[in-house]
Amino acid sequence: MSEHYPVALIGPGAIGTTIAAALHEVGRTPLVCGRTAHQQLELRFDRGRIVVPGPVLTDPAEIKQPVGLVFVAVKATQIKATAAWLAKLCDEKTVVCVLQNGVEQKAQFADYVAGATVLPSVVWFPAQREPDASVWLRAKPRLTLPDTPEAGLVLKTLQGTRCEVDLSADFISVAWRKLLQNAVAGLMVLAGRRAGMFSRPDITALALAYLRECLAVARAEGARLSDDVPQEIIDGFHRAPADLGTSILADRQAGQPLEWDIRNGVVQRYGRNQGIPTPLSDLIVPLLAAASDGPG
Ligand SMILES: NC(=O)c1ccc[n+]([C@@H]2O[C@H](COP(=O)([O-])OP(=O)(O)OC[C@H]3O[C@@H](n4cnc5c(N)ncnc54)[C@H](OP(=O)(O)O)[C@@H]3O)[C@@H](O)[C@H]2O)c1
Repeated sequence: MSEHYPVALIGPGAIGTTIAAALHEVGRTPLVCGRTAHQQLELRFDRGRIVVPGPVLTDPAEIKQPVGLVFVAVKATQIKATAAWLAKLCDEKTVVCVLQNGVEQKAQFADYVAGATVLPSVVWFPAQREPDASVWLRAKPRLTLPDTPEAGLVLKTLQGTRCEVDLSADFISVAWRKLLQNAVAGLMVLAGRRAGMFSRPDITALALAYLRECLAVARAEGARLSDDVPQEIIDGFHRAPADLGTSILADRQAGQPLEWDIRNGVVQRYGRNQGIPTPLSDLIVPLLAAASDGPG
């Protein structure tokens, strides 16, 4: 860790390694806190690679004092398990930037951050962990953050790195737009197929109906999204390579717990609170939940 830059990162997986490497490249190597021990982290991309020297810390007792900024890049199913790291790394002056899908980051982390400010983000880049634990970055890293004073610290920390950061005055709409895309991608888990499946007219019709249901809930939660959004998302899948996957499908194929609740369950839960019928969620969510958590 650079003494001039008290930044930590919890969860050096696909997204976490990308951010750690972007910071290391400009001399702002963060303190890396993980679950599995690694001597170093490796990020690979089209024209090169970045190696972040380790070791990855695996014992929260090694943390001596809180830091100014913590990036958290664990899966949403792993939040509780980071409690011991957060307890050591945070105080009320810390900013915790959550690099996760979903729209509930603030509520989900509130109990673990010792009064720190939780800053959600939208992560726009695909990155993939390879069997040797290196990470394959598949597009230019970019984050969107809400335009709040705390975002300034993240902006400053990532300034001049290969990770672009933009601020949005209407973050809620941006986050829900991404959530809709993630929600409908969950259909790939149920079919066991990649993006090519959306070229089927019956899947297109189902996906559009599901997206319209999600859109109604998003709007009730304050997102300003047009009627065109469902079609725009489906058009994106139609343009995508047929073999494009999604992280929830990769997790399913690896037999890992799924982020079904923050990507799909959230629409059903918020719909119920708002009195909005969610018949498609009522079918899709239990199937995803059972695929993730069993029993059976
Ligand atoms: N990957 C993408 O392309 C992408 C794109 C957009 C958004 N996202 C979102 O970004 C978030 C992170 O996804 P990801 O793909 O980067 O996940 P990931 O590759 O599975 O990385 C998660 C990392 O957290 C570590 N971890 C788990 N429990 C921990 C603990 N208790 N303490 C410290 N570290 C712990 C894991 O360690 P192990 O090595 O032991 O597993 C792993 O290194 C998710 O919400 C995902 O939906 C991902």
